[in-house]
Amino acid sequence: MRKKIPKILITGGAGFIGSAFARLLVKEGAYPAIVDKLTYAGDLKRLKDAEGGFKFYKAGICDLKRMNSIIAKERPEIVAHFAAESHVDRSINDAASFIETNIKGTQILLDACRKQKINKFIHISTDEVYGEIASGKFNESSPLRPNSPYAASKASADLLVQAYIRTYKFPALIIRPCNNYGPWQYPEKLIPLAILNILNGKKVPVYGQGKNVREWLYVDDCAAGIFKAMLKGKVGQVYNLGSGQEWKNIDTVKLLLKTLGAGQDQFEFVKDRPGHDLRYRLDSAKAAKELGWRPRIKFADGLKLTVGWSLKNKNWLKQK
Ligand SMILES: NC(=O)c1ccc[n+]([C@@H]2O[C@H](COP(=O)([O-])OP(=O)(O)OC[C@H]3O[C@@H](n4cnc5c(N)ncnc54)[C@H](O)[C@@H]3O)[C@@H](O)[C@H]2O)c1
Repeated sequence: MRKKIPKILITGGAGFIGSAFARLLVKEGAYPAIVDKLTYAGDLKRLKDAEGGFKFYKAGICDLKRMNSIIAKERPEIVAHFAAESHVDRSINDAASFIETNIKGTQILLDACRKQKINKFIHISTDEVYGEIASGKFNESSPLRPNSPYAASKASADLLVQAYIRTYKFPALIIRPCNNYGPWQYPEKLIPLAILNILNGKKVPVYGQGKNVREWLYVDDCAAGIFKAMLKGKVGQVYNLGSGQEWKNIDTVKLLLKTLGAGQDQFEFVKDRPGHDLRYRLDSAKAAKELGWRPRIKFADGLKLTVGWSLKNKNWLKQK
């Protein structure tokens, strides 16, 4: 017999990770409601494989009236909150929309959900709230020391969620994934940007000396972790979702060049990102133990899958 899936509302479900989560839910037999403002980063094409399996609302999370009315109508048992401004470089150029969506939008959504008495609010945070770590790993009790305006806005949202848990006994939990990659990622992030440049015969820009280290999680593994947290995660808790697959940016770019058959010198070092975090690394033992989650896809295999998808979807990448 199919397990019963609760009624779920997803914010940011037309984005990169939110859409992977929505596709997984639909495959599992759920009929989620998706709320997305469809900013430059949102695209309903990401949901074409789930067509007919969800309800869609084009709405911004900062619109309290709209959020109240959608949540009153849908009466979700679970809310999974992915909607955010998500690109660090954009936050360095102009932080305003990050403060608006990531902090104020989260507060508005929390208040709308509080009115309707939902059972579980899953707040999608990021490893970047911990800041950088030269060696070792961050666990869920590590202090929040964000360095970019993006990371600071996400850490602020985490603190708000934690305050609502304590003050109102609001039933939330927080997920902190490491860097995601995979199909449908907007080509402003390192991996799809590198693929697009290689396909266009251009050099791949690499910040600084390419020594920054990122921990890479295939997007479907991330979605599976969030799904497990939805079923088994305890309210009030934080769960890191890391892959243990640490790569220097320059090595990632060189592997992509090799996989796509381009010359190993088709890249250029460019002026470093201001305040660039050197290394991120999560301790994900808690998610393994309490949620039974382990990522399945190794970075080199996931990159091959991503390159394969990109070759089939060149036009989508080039249009962005
Ligand atoms: N991409 C990563 O590597 C990564 C890693 C860790 C955590 N995260 C977090 O995961 C979440 C999803 O990230 P992503 O990479 O899928 O982002 P994304 O930029 O691809 O998608 C964000 C989605 O939110 C929507 N959105 C933006 N502002 C909105 C608003 N005001 N109201 C409603 N919808 C709005 C956009 O239209 C888009 O569909 C974010 O909260 C991000 O901080 C991302």
